[in-house]
This record gives sequence, C-alpha cells and structure tokens, in this order.
Amino acid sequence: MSKVTVVGAGNVGATCANVLVTQSIADEVVLIDIKEGLAEGKAMDIMQTANILGLNSRLTGVTNDYEKTAGSDMVVITSGIPRKPGMTREELIGVNAGIVKSVTESVLKYSPNAIILCVSNPMDTMTYLIHKISGLPKNRIIGMGGALDSARFKYFLSLALGANATEVEGIVIGGHGDTTMIPLVRYAAYRGVPATSYLPAEQLEKVAADTMVGGATLTKLLGTSAWMAPGAAAAQVVSAVLHDSHKLISCSALLDGEYGEKDLCIGVPCILGRNGIEKIVEFELTDAEKALFAASAQAVHKTNSALSC
Ligand code: LAC
Repeated sequence: MSKVTVVGAGNVGATCANVLVTQSIADEVVLIDIKEGLAEGKAMDIMQTANILGLNSRLTGVTNDYEKTAGSDMVVITSGIPRKPGMTREELIGVNAGIVKSVTESVLKYSPNAIILCVSNPMDTMTYLIHKISGLPKNRIIGMGGALDSARFKYFLSLALGANATEVEGIVIGGHGDTTMIPLVRYAAYRGVPATSYLPAEQLEKVAADTMVGGATLTKLLGTSAWMAPGAAAAQVVSAVLHDSHKLISCSALLDGEYGEKDLCIGVPCILGRNGIEKIVEFELTDAEKALFAASAQAVHKTNSALSC
C-alpha cells in the first residue's frame, strides 16, 4: 500500500492528484488545502471520474487537517501563489517561502519518513528551503522542475522533427527559470540518433529557446501559470519513486560538489527510486555547457540569498 499526500488543491495539486488516481500510481492519496471545501470538492470530482474509468485508487480531500496525511510515503508540495503574466517565478519568493516552510513543518509532523517533492515556485529555492528547515537527508527532497522542462523540450523537439514525442529523448538541466534552464541540445536524440543530425543548429536553438520560456508562454496564454504538465510531471516523479523504477529524470537536487557546485538545489539528471534520489548522474559537459551551468547556479544562489533561513 502506498500513500501520497498532495498539499495544495489548486490547479497543479489537483491535476497531480488526478494523474496519481487515474494512472493508479498510488493506492491512497490525500489532497489537502487551507481553503474550506476546495480539496474535498476536487477529490470528489476526481473520485467520480475514477468510478467512470473503473479505477480503485482512493483519494480523500481535507481542509487543513494534517492528521489525515499521517504515514505518507511521499508528500508533494504545490502550495503557494502562481505567477501572473509578466512575472518571473523568482518574484514569488516572498509569499511562497512562508507558506512552504509552514507546510513542510506540518507534513513532517505526521509523516516523518516521507520523501518530499517540491513543486512550489521558485522551485529550486523552495527545494533548498525545505532542506534548510527540515534537515532531512538530501536523497529525500526532490524538486520537480527538470521533469517538466524536459517534457517541454521533448514536445518542441517532436514538433520540429515531425516525430512521435515518445521516440524523442531530451533532458533539461540547470535552474527552473526562464533564463537559467539548460536544454542539453547535444544530448537530444530521435530514435537513438542525435537530433543534431536531423535539424540545423538554428532550428535547435529555437527549440531550446521555446523550451526555456515554455512556462512564460503558457502563463501569457492562460492568464495564470500552467497546471496540466506541471501536475503530470509531479506525478511522474512520484511514480518513479514509489515504483522504485531507477529511471533517470531531471530533478532539482542538493549538490555537494557534483557539476562543480554545492549548497544549492538545481536541476541535474537523477536516478529515482524508493529512497528518492538514488544517484546524481554527472553527464560530460563541454566548456560552453559548463559555463552555462555555472551561470545558472550563480543565479539560483542569488535567489536563495533572499531566503531568511
Ligand atoms: C511552469 C511553472 C509551474 O513552468 O513553474 O509552468
């Protein structure tokens, strides 16, 4: 039996819970929110969907009652305000840091052994904040950004290639920010063959640029931050952990010398399993890629310095 708590029944949290239930990823899911009735309503709607689809995962919605989250194997934190058109993720730090801090304390009180997945923005900094306040071993705290950014990269790659998205490989490392993420174009592939042998450099640069502003583009179109892919990406990470898959997914992880950086959380290729981050994989990078990663890390450090912990 696996139990997952999703904190925040907004668009991203509810979508994550929906995927966890409709893909039968977790046996038991608790959706919790501070807004009276919101989690209950969304849970009821999702469970009625599960009934139509003939699925047996159990989802309960609760208002602020953390006791109901007790014994969770994994906790997904989506709480906080989303960005509005024109805002950066970094601008959310003031409000979201306080929310993420109090949510982390509440969930750990009832699920001291849980693996925590951070989705709240600015995601790398919120993941780092959870490390700072919880003191948990570093394998147990994961940030979701790279999974989402890599999905967007593969989407834009598949469009440029006119290919099935499932046959495209691509990974994004670095910070989960419009200017800090690094789509690793050199490692992108279609059916095992480097994408660089199918597409000219300018087209690959456009794919990378579209990926980097993928979230901002959606925020502009939707009037608020995206939620379908962010929710599904969070569920994908939960699935990789709960099923002890040892899949490689880009996630924000606390670095201690890997990629030449330490004391920050930033997107790197991670092997995910039942212990959370089982291993950080160090891809060989060119000098230019290393320079991009160093600059990205510097930007994330700068955002982290606004934390008061
Ligand atoms: C995005 C938000 C969730 O990238 O960070 O859509």
